[in-house]
Amino acid sequence: MSKSDTQKPSIENLLHENRKFKPQKKSFSHYFLQDMSHYLKLYKNSIKNPESFWTRMASEHLDFFKKWKKVFAWKDCKAQWFLGATLNVSYNCLDRHVQSDRKNKAALIWEGEPGETRTLTYLQLSLEVAKCANMLKGIGLHKGDKIAIYMPLIPEAVIAMLACTRIGVVHTVVFGGFSSSSLRDRILDSNCKALITADGGFRKGSAVKMKEMADEALKETPSIKNVIVVKRTHEKVKMFPKRDIWWHELAENYSDSCVAEQLAAEHPLFILYTSGTTGKPKGLMHTTAGYLLGVTLTTKYLFDIKETDIFWCTADVGWVTGHSYLVYGPLSCGATVFMYEGAPIYPEPDRFWKMIAKHKVTILYTAPTAIRSFIRLGKELPKKHDLSSLRLLGTVGEPINPEAWIWYYEVIGNKKCPIVDTWWQTETGAVMIAPFSGVTPTKPGSATLPMFGIEPIILNKDGTPAKKKDGGFLCIKKPWPYMARTIYGDHERYKKTYWQEIEGVYFTGDGARQDKDGYFWIMGRVDDVINVSGHRLGTMEIESAAVEHPLVAECAVVGRPDAIKGQGIVAFITLKKSANINPMLKEEIAKFIIKQIGALARPDEIRFSDSLPKTRSGKIMRRLLRELATTGDIKGDTTTLEDFSVLEKLREKDED
Ligand code: WTA
Repeated sequence: MSKSDTQKPSIENLLHENRKFKPQKKSFSHYFLQDMSHYLKLYKNSIKNPESFWTRMASEHLDFFKKWKKVFAWKDCKAQWFLGATLNVSYNCLDRHVQSDRKNKAALIWEGEPGETRTLTYLQLSLEVAKCANMLKGIGLHKGDKIAIYMPLIPEAVIAMLACTRIGVVHTVVFGGFSSSSLRDRILDSNCKALITADGGFRKGSAVKMKEMADEALKETPSIKNVIVVKRTHEKVKMFPKRDIWWHELAENYSDSCVAEQLAAEHPLFILYTSGTTGKPKGLMHTTAGYLLGVTLTTKYLFDIKETDIFWCTADVGWVTGHSYLVYGPLSCGATVFMYEGAPIYPEPDRFWKMIAKHKVTILYTAPTAIRSFIRLGKELPKKHDLSSLRLLGTVGEPINPEAWIWYYEVIGNKKCPIVDTWWQTETGAVMIAPFSGVTPTKPGSATLPMFGIEPIILNKDGTPAKKKDGGFLCIKKPWPYMARTIYGDHERYKKTYWQEIEGVYFTGDGARQDKDGYFWIMGRVDDVINVSGHRLGTMEIESAAVEHPLVAECAVVGRPDAIKGQGIVAFITLKKSANINPMLKEEIAKFIIKQIGALARPDEIRFSDSLPKTRSGKIMRRLLRELATTGDIKGDTTTLEDFSVLEKLREKDED
């Protein structure tokens, strides 16, 4: 990343927001925290004595088989926490509840897009998980092996994840909306031995052909020996005799009793891929104890989980939000999770609100992009339903604009529910900056203050503290238990990306500023990653996909503000000399990109040009392209531009 490429904060109105909402004591009482001074006392203590703080938290909130000998070690940018301890994630998410009063409490309430529902109690879920763990052992998987999960949002996805953790198999969940090429690349990178998938899933009324996608990917993945297929849509699929096996048929052969493995605190838990600044997504690796502590603590403290809560995190399990707050966090806390398979506005645009009223959801955790689409649909839709069960509203994934925040607060929360804007990343594992619901006064658009033990700091590129009003690069001062330990197979890249960009601190890749109350305001990415509908996409990843097209010579992708998606994708493309520009070519290239990455990478606009603006050293000047894509003109500094005529040509609006 070069400094000239640094994106200026794009959300202008965040800079002028000064409303402040005090917690409403009457409608809200925090289970763990009394008030702000209690938070500050605990926070200060957690920063001053991190090891004793984390020791206390781990002892209070998790069940270990064996206690640790050493709390923390750090070498070559590799953190280790709770050394010598053993535990099991599925034990913490299931067994300890089954052994308590929660045995017959609903762990998972699921609704399919066609409307059917399924409820699994903690006992039932634990039996399903044990059976699945036995199935995995049965097909020859051992502790430390890796498997891919490519599934719709159905209970079997959760069961499969927990089953892996029960026997120490490492899962890599690939978002069901990703293409076969993306699935293939992830399987190859993490060397998965098996895949769990489904015949398909329902989305907007049709059956998505997931098995077909998987088959395509598996043509080039020799490491995969077995594929377990869940029957969901009942569409006809091709089963390869030695490789593929139906989940329900395999299940018949195994018992539902499986003792949880005693795993080392640093045993790898999962690998999850996310976009970075190069074309190749990074497989962030999380480990057992630290991650589980992070998701458990944040679920308890920030969402203030109570025994009667029904927690709906709308994210897919293919994203980190789904891992941490659809599966591991709430289940570790013994909460009831609600999970929905399909599209938010299908078959009617009020499907979300209907389900909240029907299942009496108490906590809704969703993304600003969803809120903005709901605003567009009008407040009459939520008003048609009784949303009074809601007591807390969370948001995640991108900066929330104050207008969306206020709408969420007033229309969905009826001015009674605190808004918990949570800032975090795939790399951080769990929430890092967010208000403690009902305790921290909130300001629309600010994720407010840090979680215990987390010390965010805003720096200039040279590592000096940034001026408060100007903002700078958001960094974290010290390692914390729930951070990713490495990029799978490439520790050098991990070191370089996160710990050496600004020497000695964790570099988030986000810009931020801090106001006079110490509140953090996240301004968006400062690198070549764009955030489309709350999903990270590397511009280079889209560019690499585009240049694979036989007619594309060069491509530069930039983000531009989008009223619903946060950012939209604009691709500037130069074509090969031989290319015939036909009216369908743009659509053809768009489809080509989608085929390689997935539908979320569809460009909002493709612009053809003879050449792209470059510096004298040959680097594409994205800053100029961003300006052009956003305002239609360029006013910024062009002194390093090599060929000025390029700009003139780019300014000319292309006709098709
Ligand atoms: C952005 C999602 C502003 C940010 C959990 C970060 C946010 C990236 C917020 C991580 C928020 C996430 N306010 N920006 N509350 N939450 N982001 O890895 O740019 O998919 O770096 O993790 O999303 O995206 P990821």
